Amino acid sequence: MLPTTALLLGLTGTTIGFHGCQLIADEVSSATDVYYPGSSSYIADNEHYATSSLQVSKCSVEPGSADDVGIILGILGKMKTPFGIKGGGHATNQGFSSTIGVQIAMTRFNEITYDSATQTAVIGAGNIWDDVYETLDAQGVNVVGGRVTGIGVAGFTLGGGYSWLSNQYGLAVDNVVAYELVVPNGTAVTVTEGSDPDLFFSLKGGGNNYGIVTRFTLKTHQQGAVWGGLAAYNASYISAFTAAAVKFCSEVTDPKAGMIIVYGYTSGQVILSTQMFYDGPDPPDGIFDDFLAIPALALDAVTRSFFDLINSTVPAINASTGYRTVYNHIPTLKYSTSSIEGVIDEVNFWGPVLSAHGAFYVDYAIEPFLPSLLTHAPVGSSAYPGSRDHVAFPTNVNLQWLSESEDDVFHDAARQTTERLRAEGEPMYPNYAIYDTPVADMFGEVGVKRMEATRERVDPHGVMMLTGGFKV
Ligand SMILES: Cc1cc2nc3c(=O)[nH]c(=O)nc-3n(C[C@H](O)[C@H](O)[C@H](O)COP(=O)(O)OP(=O)(O)OC[C@H]3O[C@@H](n4cnc5c(N)ncnc54)[C@H](O)[C@@H]3O)c2cc1C
Ligand SMILES: *[C@@H]1O[C@H](CO)[C@@H](O)[C@H](O)[C@H]1NC(C)=O
Ligand SMILES: *[C@@H]1O[C@H](CO)[C@@H](O)[C@H](O)[C@H]1NC(C)=O
Ligand SMILES: *[C@@H]1O[C@H](CO)[C@@H](O)[C@H](O)[C@H]1NC(C)=O
Ligand SMILES: *[C@@H]1O[C@H](CO)[C@@H](O)[C@H](O)[C@H]1NC(C)=O
Repeated sequence: MLPTTALLLGLTGTTIGFHGCQLIADEVSSATDVYYPGSSSYIADNEHYATSSLQVSKCSVEPGSADDVGIILGILGKMKTPFGIKGGGHATNQGFSSTIGVQIAMTRFNEITYDSATQTAVIGAGNIWDDVYETLDAQGVNVVGGRVTGIGVAGFTLGGGYSWLSNQYGLAVDNVVAYELVVPNGTAVTVTEGSDPDLFFSLKGGGNNYGIVTRFTLKTHQQGAVWGGLAAYNASYISAFTAAAVKFCSEVTDPKAGMIIVYGYTSGQVILSTQMFYDGPDPPDGIFDDFLAIPALALDAVTRSFFDLINSTVPAINASTGYRTVYNHIPTLKYSTSSIEGVIDEVNFWGPVLSAHGAFYVDYAIEPFLPSLLTHAPVGSSAYPGSRDHVAFPTNVNLQWLSESEDDVFHDAARQTTERLRAEGEPMYPNYAIYDTPVADMFGEVGVKRMEATRERVDPHGVMMLTGGFKV
């Protein structure tokens, strides 16, 4: 049975009266509500982008204040109850934001407030980027966030954050001015570079190891109309497509230009697609022309608002389609003809092999950025990436299938293809990496030591060990 169906039916037996849920309901203020199986809020609170990231929780809680988040953490810690913290629910690893215990959904933290005096915006941790962009667009500004529809501010920003604006302003973590964080002892603290440099560093990649973030204060940047959108091409144009990709990756130096270049396999054939982005109404000649010259199966690249660009991206899957997903990260030093041919070889190998196991989609997203990507923040300012010496590009492998009994096949494939293609020793990206990736591979040995010491100070009783994710 699909977990979604289990949620609808509320097949969790002993749920009502589960002591942790009851205690929470008794102790929180009226700003917060607890929901049980069968209610529509409970279903929404547990829902995830990938069905494989969904678990059936005992109850869900929508905290409405930082004080209540503190009360909830206090109860969960005392009772040693497992819990999940969900922002946008786009984690592709099971248990990272889901749980069989108490599901915390942050949706009530939906503030989006722009302050022109400080050029910052306060963004509640329950927002998805779409809503942030729509609100800020109206004020002519933007923040460094997700590139497609539906992604949560919280998970994206706590893991790193590769954005359309990253060539100009860095990763999402490079644009955080302050966190409002409820630490496991129940106190809401404001974390800045000045207030607690080790915690500020650790939150920039360290996910949910330190408590629950309720609000982010992010740097804002001026934003006008942009150009871009999706294109898809028949595999018969693969030579021209790859030549255009290599040229874009090696020659374009305009920081306003960005692309995601995808080699995919579905329904027995290779499919080529791109997302194009230019931070201005008209891209200069030469940047995207080679792609635009290839006859497209579909093309939707126009001048539009930043919000409209994101809203126009169609998710490959959604919660109602029931697909399982695994991502992995393939750090890549250079997108050259030979490295891209290596990716194509993997598509040609795994496409048919995994189709025999019910693959819906096998894809590799090539994500070129400029060599200056990591120079927008000081060396040592963030846990991820473990090093800022040079850039390793975040190629993403994305596998989708239907049957839970095939999980191991797809997880193994995601590991094997990563091993074959990854640049040895380059940092793995927490928001793409498969669940058993060692934390030292993301943050480096020195970074992990600093993060561990911070975790021991902020969470001496290991409350955050009760929730899933990459643990330091
Ligand atoms: C379709 C798709 C497109 C993507 N595109 C990009 C992209 O362009 N660039 C990029 O960098 N990444 C991208 N990602 C990866 C994305 O950054 C991660 O999936 C990210 O974790 C999603 O954040 P979320 O809030 O939606 O996820 P969730 O599943 O809600 O949370 C992810 C993690 O963050 C923790 N967390 C959530 N809220 C809080 C909180 N308030 N306090 C403490 N911990 C919290 C959760 O416990 C969990 O461990 C994409 C993923 C998908 C599925
Ligand atoms: C691509 O072109 C081939 C050959 O013309 C054709 O058989 C195939 O159906 C096309 N694929 C798509 C997705 O249109
Ligand atoms: C977002 O896109 C959908 C179509 O995918 C459309 O129906 C909706 O109107 C768009 N939202 C806004 C605010 O433009
Ligand atoms: C989910 O995806 C299916 C298939 O692509 C589509 O028909 C449906 O409208 C989508 N639902 C949502 C809520 O986006
Ligand atoms: C709670 O933890 C924070 C951060 O470690 C600390 O500043 C604060 O003093 C602690 N409060 C209590 C009551 O222990």
